[in-house]
Amino acid sequence: MSTNTVLVNPNKVLWEKGDFTKIAESMRNSGTDLVNQLGITKGMKVLDLGCGDGTTAIPEARLGADVLGVDIASNLVAAGNKRAKEEGLLNCTFQEGNAANLYELSAKGFDLVVSIFGAMFSSNPFDVAKEMVRVTRPGGRIVMGNWIPGDPTLVAQILKISSAYTPPPPEGFVSPMLWGVESHVVDRFTAAGIAKENISFIKDSFVFQIACSPAEFVNIFRTYYGPTMNAFDAAEKNGKATELQHELEELFKRENKSGSNDVTFIPANFLRVTVVC
Ligand SMILES: C[S@@+](CC[C@H](N)C(=O)[O-])C[C@H]1O[C@@H](n2cnc3c(N)ncnc32)[C@H](O)[C@@H]1O
Repeated sequence: MSTNTVLVNPNKVLWEKGDFTKIAESMRNSGTDLVNQLGITKGMKVLDLGCGDGTTAIPEARLGADVLGVDIASNLVAAGNKRAKEEGLLNCTFQEGNAANLYELSAKGFDLVVSIFGAMFSSNPFDVAKEMVRVTRPGGRIVMGNWIPGDPTLVAQILKISSAYTPPPPEGFVSPMLWGVESHVVDRFTAAGIAKENISFIKDSFVFQIACSPAEFVNIFRTYYGPTMNAFDAAEKNGKATELQHELEELFKRENKSGSNDVTFIPANFLRVTVVC
């Protein structure tokens, strides 16, 4: 390797490629609803991992928690800090970091660690579990939201459709979706020292809600969502972009429960994991 070579985390490249804030706009209501169920009180120290631009971090801060949002993508960290500033939330800060290596954070510093569709994307799931446990105080909690592989609803189906158009992942690749399988979650947290009986699961639902048609929402994914942008890049090389667009439009239309073509309202299932440390 040349001495000039700088290793960049491929996940950082993926999530900085587009502009996830455009998708996050459709997730705000469910983010707030979820946060309201977490028993957050004033002064609680909360770490929001893979926080994006703060879909859950901002509502946590509105409840009076001291919130640190950590994300691998610098553009999303900047967007989160801008949102917090605009709301005057002095108790909410965003900084860059990797969920698999939180070296900048001291042990046992947080009452609650939240990661909603965030840390699941790291390629080192056992390190992620270890780090989340390390930074949570004894008696504190970790709450994760993880998409479920093979589920019939939106996100798992986007992945399934997209994977048919993209080259197979490199050998040794661990699918992020395994965080949506209870046995894998148990393996990862027990390896980090958590007793199995302190890990619990709920199947929950998160709604994507936006004032545009399902087809327009597909275009937002195509233009701004890193994983979908990559799928279209690959499909274009094989002359199959129109086919991919059609399959996604059919999926989004089928899943739209708004009863109108001008509004998209798509509930998607996820696994909510709670760990008591
Ligand atoms: C689907 S978005 C979810 C963002 C946010 N939690 C939300 O619900 O809107 C996934 C986020 O995880 C972040 N991410 C991916 N891998 C990460 C890692 N290894 N460490 C920290 N953040 C990561 C991405 O940059 C992105 O912001």
